[in-house]
Amino acid sequence: MRKLAAGNWKMNGLSAQLAEVAALIAAHPQPRSEVLLCPPATLLAPMAQAAAGRIALGGQDCHPNSSGAHTGDISAAMLADAGAAFVILGHSERRADHGETDALVRAKAGAAAKAGLVAIICVGETEAQRDAGETLAVIAGQLAGSVPDAASPQTTVIAYEPVWAIGTGRTPTLPEIAEVHADIRARLTARFGAAASGFRLLYGGSVKPSNAAAIFALPDVDGALVGGASLKAADFGAIIAALDAA
Ligand code: PGA
Repeated sequence: MRKLAAGNWKMNGLSAQLAEVAALIAAHPQPRSEVLLCPPATLLAPMAQAAAGRIALGGQDCHPNSSGAHTGDISAAMLADAGAAFVILGHSERRADHGETDALVRAKAGAAAKAGLVAIICVGETEAQRDAGETLAVIAGQLAGSVPDAASPQTTVIAYEPVWAIGTGRTPTLPEIAEVHADIRARLTARFGAAASGFRLLYGGSVKPSNAAAIFALPDVDGALVGGASLKAADFGAIIAALDAA
């Protein structure tokens, strides 16, 4: 399994920001890990040109249908056409801002697979759910509802992103991260059998150069989904280096 360092630019980045991609590639010409950037859709095509196949690109969302009268939406095939190989689905910001349900995320994952995109399906508890001791149950429900029955390690990556750790500078403790990742692996095994060992499980939520190595040393952490720290080549590069060394 090749580890995955994924950057999620969210609603950040104009053309000038493409300089960071050039800097990242120059600093890490041959990473051991797979490196992925998910820019806003407007930057996918120019970033694909700048990346010249050296890093993978992804979208941040897609519509469950392949085309049609859906103003403002974007299909998985369109993302692929613009140069994407991945798409983030069910990010907590989509679930919160756009009311996305597990069923919708599952339908989107099906559309992504049909278009040949790898879906990065996000799960994670809110702070209130963690405080109530519901973390593992919440994530089990999200996995059961969001991950299609046809999912495989080739089509699907799972990202554990505690909602309260996103953009806050706070993270769970290392044992807490390890506990959730082990539980996700066990649930995938119960559902998909031996293939479950091949799914890449990412941790996301305030990953930065100073905490990356410790998180990557945990069992069942196969990479990261990085928001804020993926915007700067120096920071994301340091995270890639930590993953390469893990
Ligand atoms: P963050 O975001 O690294 O800025 O906390 C992570 C994410 O939302 O994917």
